[in-house]
Amino acid sequence: MATILDGRAVSRIYRERIKEEVERFKRLGYREPSLAVVLVGNDPASQVYVNNKQKACKKVGIRSLFYHLPEDTPEERLLSLVGELNENPEVDGILVQLPLPKQINPQKVIETIDPNKDVDGFHPENMGKLFSNLEGGFVPCTPLGIKLLLDHYGIDLKGKDVTVVGAGYIVGKPLSVLMLNLNATVTVCHIYTKDLKEHTRRADVLVSATGVPHLIKEDMVKEGAVVVDVGISKKDGKIVGDVDFERVKEKASYITPVPGGVGPMTITALLLNTLKAYKKHLGLEGAASAV
Ligand code: GUN
Repeated sequence: MATILDGRAVSRIYRERIKEEVERFKRLGYREPSLAVVLVGNDPASQVYVNNKQKACKKVGIRSLFYHLPEDTPEERLLSLVGELNENPEVDGILVQLPLPKQINPQKVIETIDPNKDVDGFHPENMGKLFSNLEGGFVPCTPLGIKLLLDHYGIDLKGKDVTVVGAGYIVGKPLSVLMLNLNATVTVCHIYTKDLKEHTRRADVLVSATGVPHLIKEDMVKEGAVVVDVGISKKDGKIVGDVDFERVKEKASYITPVPGGVGPMTITALLLNTLKAYKKHLGLEGAASAV
C-alpha cells in the first residue's frame, strides 16, 4: 500500500508560511499583495477553480480582485482589461482563467500579460526562462506544485526515469522541462504515442495529466513507482483522476489522491508566485522567502 502524497496537508504548511510572510510585510508598513483574477463566461468547472483560488488568497492575506466578463466578450475587450491591469501599480499578479471562449485567442491574451505579473508562468518569456533553466521567472503553478509536493516527501528526481502522460501547455510541457532541469530522464507521451504502456511501465515517477478518467491502470505501473495524478474528471457523479487509484495504490510506493493531491498544491504554487511577483514589484526580493 502506497504512502499518500497529501497535497492538503503539505499546502497547509506552505500557506501558513506565506501568511506569516504577508503579515510581516504588512507590519513593516507595506500594502498587501494582490492578484487580479479574470474569468470569461460561465464554465462551471472554471467557476469552482476561480472561487477556490480567491478563497485561498483571502486566507493568507492576499487581496484578490475579481473580473467576471460575459461569455460573448470580444477579444479586444479582454486585451484592454489585461492592459489596464498591467499598468495598475496596485496589481501584482494577473491570472486569466483558461479555457477561454472560442472568439478569444488564448495565446494572444497570454502574450499581452506583463511577464512580471504573469503568475501563471504561461508567457513565452517565463516559459523561455524555464526552458533555459534561468531563475527569476515564474514556473507554471501545477508543475511547481508537483515539485514542492515531491520535495516535501524527500522524493529526488535526479537520474530517475520520469514519464509524463499529456503534453499540454499548462501542465505536461512545462512539467517535463522542469523535471529535465532537475536531472530526470524524461519521456513525454501524448495521443500519438504508439505504445503508452511501454513508457508508463518503465517509469520510476509517473505523472498523468490527460483528463481521461482511469486511463492509468495497475498493469501500466511499475512496482514501487511514484504516481502523480493531475487529472480531474467526473465519472458516475464522482470526482476521479486519470489513475485507477484503488488498484494502483497497491502497487505504487507513493500516490496522489484525487481530490486532495495535486489540486491544492497548484493553488499553493499560485500563492507563492503571487508573493514572488509582489516582492519583485516592491523591491523586497532580498527578504526571506516562504519556500
Ligand atoms: N485552467 C486550468 N488550469 C489553469 C491554470 O493553472 N491557470 C489558468 N489560468 N487556467 C487554468
